[in-house]
Parts: sequence; C-alpha cells; structure tokens
Amino acid sequence: MKIQSVSAYQIFDSRGNPTVEAEIHLDDGTSGRGLVPSGASTGQFEAHELRDGDRTRFREKSVFRAIRNVEEVLAPAIIGWDIEDQAGIDRRLIEFDGTPNKSRLGANAILSVSLAVANAAAAWRRVPLFRSLGEGTLLPLPEIQIFGGGAHANWRTDVQDYLVIATGAESYEETLEITYNIYKAAGDQMKDRGSDWGVADEGGYWPEFETNEEALEILVSAIEEAGYTPGHEAAISLDIASSDLYDPESGLYHFALDEEFFDSDDMIERMLEWCQRYPIVSLEDPLADTDQNGWRKLCAALGGRVQLIGDDLFTTHPGRIRAGIEKGLANAVLIKLNQIGTVTETLEAIRLTKEAGWNPVISARSGETEDAFISHLAVATDAGQLKVGSFSRSERMVKWNECLRIARHLGHTARFLGGKILPRP
Ligand code: PGA
Ligand code: ZN
Repeated sequence: MKIQSVSAYQIFDSRGNPTVEAEIHLDDGTSGRGLVPSGASTGQFEAHELRDGDRTRFREKSVFRAIRNVEEVLAPAIIGWDIEDQAGIDRRLIEFDGTPNKSRLGANAILSVSLAVANAAAAWRRVPLFRSLGEGTLLPLPEIQIFGGGAHANWRTDVQDYLVIATGAESYEETLEITYNIYKAAGDQMKDRGSDWGVADEGGYWPEFETNEEALEILVSAIEEAGYTPGHEAAISLDIASSDLYDPESGLYHFALDEEFFDSDDMIERMLEWCQRYPIVSLEDPLADTDQNGWRKLCAALGGRVQLIGDDLFTTHPGRIRAGIEKGLANAVLIKLNQIGTVTETLEAIRLTKEAGWNPVISARSGETEDAFISHLAVATDAGQLKVGSFSRSERMVKWNECLRIARHLGHTARFLGGKILPRP
C-alpha cells in the first residue's frame, strides 16, 4: 500500500515543551502517527534535535522548522512509497538529510516520519504495532524510578535516577505490584519526613537528601517496609548520568551534594563500594561518555555481576555500539529512538547489542508523550527490559499499561524471564 500524504504538527510533551507529531495517510485511507519525545540530560553524541531558537516563540523551543522540513522535504521524498518498506523509507530520510547527526532536517523531524511509517504499516496490516515490528513474545522486566534527581529534579541529588527492579517477580504483572508497593512505601516515608513535595520529571519523588547515599539507604528501607527482602524480590538500579557530573578538562567528577570531587579511579572505587554495600544489580552511565578507560576498567571489575548500561556512551548509535563491544566497555545498551532518529537504525542497535550477548534496555525520555511505541518495540524485539520513569504520571503509566494489553493479546504465548535476564555472580 502506498503513502498518499505526510503532514506534521507542533504538539507538546510532558514538560509542556513543543515537539513534533507527523501523520501519514495511505491510499486506502489507513493512517499512522509519530510522536517524538525529548531528553534533558542529553548526550553530546545524540542525533540533533532541531528547535527554532526564536526568542519570540515558546522561549526558543518551537519546532516549526522541523515541521516545515517534514512537509517540504521529507513528504515529497516518500509519497508514493510502499508503507511496508520501513528500511527503504528510513534510508531515504537519512539520505535527504545528508549529515552524520541529522542536523540539517532535524532528528525530531526524521523520527516523527519514521515512527508514523511504522504505525501506518501496522494499521495497514491490521495487527498490533508489536506484531508488525517483529516476532518477539518476551514481556519486559521494568526498571522503575522511585527518586528522581540530577537534571530532572533541579539537582536535588547528583545521581539522576534511583530505580527498583522487581528481580523476584514471576510475571510482568507481578513486577508492577512489587514496584507499586515500594513506590507507595517510599511515598509514606516522604510524608513522615515532611518532604512530600510531589514528583520530578519522570514521576519519582524528589525530596531533599543530605547525601547521594542517603537516598540509597531510604530506598532500601522502602523495599523492606513494603514487605520485601532487598536483593531478592526487588533490587536497586541507578542511573548516575555521570556525563553531567564530569569536567573533561580536569578529568574530575563533581558530586555537589557530597562536596566531593573524584577522578576516574575514585569514581570506580565509589561504584564498587556502593555495589558491595547495597543490592545494586544495574548501573547506567556510571562514568562519562568520554571516559572510555574508566568504562573498560569498571567493566573488567564489575561486568560479571552487575549490568553496566551505556546511555550517553552509545547514544543508540550502531557505530558507537559496535566500537564499544570491540573494546569491552559495558554489557548493556540503553535504547532511545530519538538519540539516533529512525526506527531502522534503532532495530539495528538492538540487534547488534543482542548479538554481542549484551542486554538492550528500551527507554523513554524525560520529556515524553502520551504514545506507547516503546512498549511495542520492547516486546517486538525480545529486548527483555524497559525503563520509562516512575509509577505515576500518565506519560509513564501509558507505557506500563500498554505492556499489560500486549500481555493479554499474547496470552499463553507470552514469555517472561524476570531477573534471570540480569548478569549473575
Ligand atoms: P533524558 O533522561 O531523557 O533526560 O536523557 C533519561 C536518561 O538519562 O536515561
Ligand atoms: Zn540515562
């Protein structure tokens, strides 16, 4: 079935900031949309998000140029193409941009079209998106944020995400029940401390803590208060997002809350210490995207027993992932569609990661939309893990809820590996 029209609009993300939505109509009247999310702690190697920079419109954040690029450049390039040829269409979108980081037309413009193509193809095939995208049947193990910090919570803590993984759950449904209980127990503790101040960008609490480590201690006690044994039914995952803490000139990491500066070796030491003292099963961006020596050392020391996820390190870029695999920098890759800008390149990033025996973790952005594309992507590719923020706010819950719907749809053919997917000592 052929593409008849492509249009684009400015909509708004979960922070209220402008973003791009594209809509594709096919000759038979079916259609599909693509909604683009946006990060706050973005990596320097990400594809380019094009914003107008016009001080008189939406504080420089409007995306009218990206929208014009969809309608005036990308639409004519793909009208008349077969909707089932996602790879061919994505190749054409990349060609028409012509830059290595999609900076001419904007990765947000390109991704809106690429996502709309995938959704329109599923509508044309009359199957759910996950079935149209791939053959997978594996329901993901969620990583769910309890406390938010860093760039998402005005730097209340230096660590960006304090998350829980329900490692002992036997089903996807049970992961949500365990995490719900922990999230509510943590909320009760916030009330007791008199610091029940609502939630940060991804829905986690953002109280004041004395130190970065205090949040870890409270997280352990919330797991216990919810009736679980830390490290058994539920374990801890941290996204340090440490590229934001790193000064490449001095080579130092700054933990402002703790008034400490670390060089790369100190930072590795701190991570090893935390992993010894707390039931941590996963660390994301424990080191900066340019600190490759540090990554190699940490991975040699910890990679056999803790999941080490590269987010800013790889930016979902197949070339960067391939190089990282060769150098043994990590054992998992955070997968964000808008870091690379097309569905096809994202699928390639997931394939490379899995081929190396590493774990792909499909992830939302801190600025999200009401779309649940990534839930379908996680199941379609048998990725095994999903990270979309906390257990509140509808732009987060829509992703968790969509996995429940997919589970119902798959019925007895659904699979779930739970904590077994993580590295074990
Ligand atoms: P971001 O945060 O979307 O602001 O980059 C998410 C993450 O760092 O994993
Ligand atoms: Zn991250």
